[in-house]
Amino acid sequence: MRVLSGIQPSGALHIGNYMGAIRQYIDLQRGNDAYYFVADYHALTSVRDAGKLRGYVFEVIVDLLALGLDPETATLFVQSDVPETTELAWLLTSVTPMGWLEKCVSYKDKVQQGLPAEHGLFAYPVLQAADILLYDADVVPVGQDQKQHLEITRDIAERFNHVHGETFKLPKPYILDTVAVVPGLDGRKMSKSYDNTVEIFDDPKTILKKCKKIVTDSTPVESPKDPDRDNLFQLFKLFAPVDQTSEVESRYRSGGIGYGEVKVRLAEHITARFAEPRERRAELVASPAKVAEIRQAAAEKARKTARIVLDRARNACGVG
Ligand code: TRP
Repeated sequence: MRVLSGIQPSGALHIGNYMGAIRQYIDLQRGNDAYYFVADYHALTSVRDAGKLRGYVFEVIVDLLALGLDPETATLFVQSDVPETTELAWLLTSVTPMGWLEKCVSYKDKVQQGLPAEHGLFAYPVLQAADILLYDADVVPVGQDQKQHLEITRDIAERFNHVHGETFKLPKPYILDTVAVVPGLDGRKMSKSYDNTVEIFDDPKTILKKCKKIVTDSTPVESPKDPDRDNLFQLFKLFAPVDQTSEVESRYRSGGIGYGEVKVRLAEHITARFAEPRERRAELVASPAKVAEIRQAAAEKARKTARIVLDRARNACGVG
């Protein structure tokens, strides 16, 4: 199956990104024809500094490679290295009713959050449809928040097929496991926009410092605590081995464990989990030429696939 997904470059990846999506992308590379890309065209709606954008793109590539994405197995490319994307987006935009985009919650949300109401933001789902349809993707793994975008992708594909004749394969959404929604330091969902994240590749000292900031209640050490209602424990459970999880859980219930101890142990587990990737990442950062080579090879491969589908679409609507 061809699996495809995109990741927005908006700075270093955090452990919520890892547990919620990246880990599953890496698992899906085995046994599938996996295409993953860094969505830099999409990022233009929010990143307005060329140097920053290039830096973020580089960072996502090295983070993913360090975490185990294998460039021999999966195709890891940058969206704008395949400019065919934007041409397909125009062909699609020509058959997309305004009303479909007007009802998109992500546009409304982002404008409410204060992003300017620009056309790029409004047309974001059409560009996303181009990303997906350009590669004849069978399956698109995404978080719950992208469900509506995938529905629109299918609607646009069907509409194009209806207007211009059978051209696109209809992709299936694959909504990622939401059991792994990771709480942030303040207990809300971990997210860059809440400034409550622990970055995967923070150095061990920073990880410890951030873990110490995790918000808990003020139950004293001796008193029993409810592990199910404590976001520190929810984080601990995600990173600690099972035997330690059950030890800590029973000490929560009986009393006699302080949050301070749990925070220190959590920081150690997070650090240990990413120790090997951290070394691999340092090597990659030290050899940007190698990263550039991987990027270029992937772009060539992606472009070949894209060209075939774009030509099919151009023919179908009579341009070129
Ligand atoms: N919009 C997605 C997000 O914010 C990123 C994305 C862009 C994407 N193009 C895509 C995801 C195509 C899946 C397929 O997470």
